[in-house]
Amino acid sequence: MAEPTRIDDCLSVRGGELYLEDCRATELIERFGSPLFAISESQLRLNARRYHEAFSRHWPDGPVDILPAFKANWTLATRRVLSDAGVGADVYSEGELRGVLESGVDPERVSVNGGGKSDGFLRRCLEAGVRITVEDLDEPRRIDSIARELGVVAKVRLRVKPNFPNLWRATDFAQEYASIDIGIQAYKGGIPAQYLVELGREVLTMKNVELTGLHLHLGRHHPSLWYWRGAMRRYAALIAHLCRSWGGYRPVEIDVGGGFATHRDPFDNVGLREDVLRTVVSYPFEQALRLLGENGRYRAMSSVIERFFAKMPTKERAPTIEEYGQATAGTLRSELHRQGVDTAEIRLQVEPGRGMYGDTAIHLTTVKKVKRQTQPIDLRWVLTDTTYFFFAGGQFEYDLHDFRVANKADQEATEVADIVGHSCAADRFLPFARVPKIVEGDVIALFDMGAYQESSASNFNALPRPASVLVRGTDADVIRRAETLDDVFRRDVVPNRLMRQARAAE
Ligand SMILES: Cc1ncc(COP(=O)(O)O)c(C=O)c1O
Repeated sequence: MAEPTRIDDCLSVRGGELYLEDCRATELIERFGSPLFAISESQLRLNARRYHEAFSRHWPDGPVDILPAFKANWTLATRRVLSDAGVGADVYSEGELRGVLESGVDPERVSVNGGGKSDGFLRRCLEAGVRITVEDLDEPRRIDSIARELGVVAKVRLRVKPNFPNLWRATDFAQEYASIDIGIQAYKGGIPAQYLVELGREVLTMKNVELTGLHLHLGRHHPSLWYWRGAMRRYAALIAHLCRSWGGYRPVEIDVGGGFATHRDPFDNVGLREDVLRTVVSYPFEQALRLLGENGRYRAMSSVIERFFAKMPTKERAPTIEEYGQATAGTLRSELHRQGVDTAEIRLQVEPGRGMYGDTAIHLTTVKKVKRQTQPIDLRWVLTDTTYFFFAGGQFEYDLHDFRVANKADQEATEVADIVGHSCAADRFLPFARVPKIVEGDVIALFDMGAYQESSASNFNALPRPASVLVRGTDADVIRRAETLDDVFRRDVVPNRLMRQARAAE
């Protein structure tokens, strides 16, 4: 067989076939069915190691903990891999807490986030001995009282929300109308800066609460290092201000949250702007074509689609994990020093979600039909057995994923087709994509499907959700089985009165 062509750490092309580690993608489909999420264990371990090394290199003063966001991929097997790699977790819900605790994580390395935590949930956090990241103003008082009942001292951090007037670029979450600064203000997360001084003073008097440090999570507003440097400058200034206001307080730990783009960042710049482009350029252009008459207009549209609408996922790369480590930990440390905060012994925590899991998985789907029309507009559809409802997370975030035809992985693109899912929605997950000639039975592999995709799958059209397999070398094991039709209807209850009516009508 010809020498493999490396695409990534764990993705390669061998003899025209796509491989994840040493597993041929099409063989995974033959063994486990289609569609399928396939996750690389080696990539996950490598990412965990790289995050730890990259941030430790620029934070020499104390330990560094990597707390990947469990919400990004809450399969228990991948969580076991991370626990084995000595990595902690950021969790958001009772379900997520249960998942990480069942998976051998060290509770000292778990941060429980989110607003509106119930007393029952806080009690479970205290019983488990995890960190509670405070979001609500009344939360510390409630934690103090439950901790007193349990006879424990709760370890809490305050999730802060500084002002970021320096982050003036457009946020990727709402490019058309908001800067990162305003985007952060509009997002519900974090305790507004106006309350922090007073709240911290109150917490520091509590007998059953230890304020271990501060937490910030802004999210992936922008992939650039500029964003991280700017964010860390204002975070450091706020930390210094709080330390002074709290009478020389020193945090034991500082958490910088997540939001680091995975290197082949699927965010589709143009996709988000498309609505605006359509309104400003494309729709008026199409209307102007009416002057050509019905046939002329359709002919003109056929010829512009390939030239102007065909698009491919970006080839631009986001910064590396090492660059993020330098920009984030390095800037935070130097700014804290500049503001007079001694960083000796302080523990740094980092919560990558997409950055940890994103490039670990591919989603495989089989082509069911290829459909073509030449009149009135020349169009081609490749109908697959998946749907974007199985990776809904990416739709919310304007993703356009890189892909290969797994069994034609070294073939040149020769035509343009809409790669679509089989729900009744438009389901254009690769609209007007440049592809090699595709036929029924071909397998398409979407890259970077490890974060927020499978975890957001829904059953629209009563479709059973696909399985996930974990790959290591030549081994592959099911880690989340595919749903059956019985699973799809399992939660449904038809009240007796409706059944009686139905029987009476028979
Ligand atoms: C508190 C917290 N930490 C970390 C993350 C992970 O973010 P990302 O996947 O963008 O790295 C999230 C995601 O929403 C979060 O809410």
